[in-house]
Amino acid sequence: MTILVTGGLGYIGSHTVVELLNNNFDVVIVDDLSNSEKFILKNIEEVTGKKPVFYPFDLKRKELLSQVFDAHEIAGCINFAAYKAVGESQEKPLDYYENNLFTLINILQEFKRRNLSNFIFSSSCTVYGQADEQPIDENTPLKTPESSYGKTKQMGEEILKDFATAYQKKVTLLRYFNPIGSHPSALLGELPLGIPNNLVPYVTQTASKIREKLSIWGNDYPTADGTAIRDYIYVVDLAKAHVKALQKLLDETSETVIDIYNLGTGKGSSVLEVVEAFERANHVEVPYQICERRAGDITVAFANADKAERELGWKAETILEEALRTTWEWQKYLQTRI
Ligand code: UD1
Repeated sequence: MTILVTGGLGYIGSHTVVELLNNNFDVVIVDDLSNSEKFILKNIEEVTGKKPVFYPFDLKRKELLSQVFDAHEIAGCINFAAYKAVGESQEKPLDYYENNLFTLINILQEFKRRNLSNFIFSSSCTVYGQADEQPIDENTPLKTPESSYGKTKQMGEEILKDFATAYQKKVTLLRYFNPIGSHPSALLGELPLGIPNNLVPYVTQTASKIREKLSIWGNDYPTADGTAIRDYIYVVDLAKAHVKALQKLLDETSETVIDIYNLGTGKGSSVLEVVEAFERANHVEVPYQICERRAGDITVAFANADKAERELGWKAETILEEALRTTWEWQKYLQTRI
């Protein structure tokens, strides 16, 4: 059975491709390499011993996309292809709306035209904004995200709900909390472009002395140590959830399905706890300084992922230290490539 994975050479995409191949799905990747590298394809092959089909193009190119559907009998799609930098999205909102939504609509048009179903969308806990209560479950009210990136996720969800309802399709929206870590082989991981915005890539680059010091954005939050709290989920656990969600979608007998799952560990960790866990896991030092809060940051977000456990039989298994250990191994691997 063949699954189309857009953005399949990206961070979460590549880990999910590995899990799909390990579960005997055939995979067709479309990725324009705008935030990924071709060597990831070779590394996927090395990890799995299997060769996914790869098309390097931008999903806005409808005619090329249509040819992929002509060439393969696609049983479903997992859509990772999107821009994801929160800060950049504030400077270039139109690029974000165009890239993240036009590409989504192009794939859905092909699905409609060819009478296909089974679509999984990468959404984010950003759709909850600063929730009034923790942990956050799927019924927690949504708030309009501050960033254009976040809005593309919320709009994407709405587009998919309408798509499922109007055309009797099966869709799953996966709301990720904060994905971290790398593949245990150290052959796959996150490749931040330029200066990382996210915490764990910045911590990792600081530990390897590419950056001088980590800036901790605020220690005056109303939390135990004053730094903000997130739910850091190991990327391989996250990838496995996609396979479970896909299997459930394929098994569904109803014509119209809109499933929504929060994917997190259920445990919140503060920025300082992440830094300390990284130091403990890897026996390295992460110099840091405390700075002003970062605009748009929320105080706390962690998941109630019980629904995923109940309905998908999925649960995050990997502890923070272990995830952070794999990140360090990946960083060392990247340094051998320079
Ligand atoms: C953000 C987005 C989320 C998106 C994710 C990945 C929002 C509300 N959240 O998550 O939707 O999926 O990025 O791109 O838009 N921190 C530091 N120093 C740093 C970097 C981060 O102290 O150098 C702190 C932040 O202030 C925050 C925590 O670390 O408290 C996590 O930050 P980050 O990794 O950027 O993720 P989010 O902002 O939670």
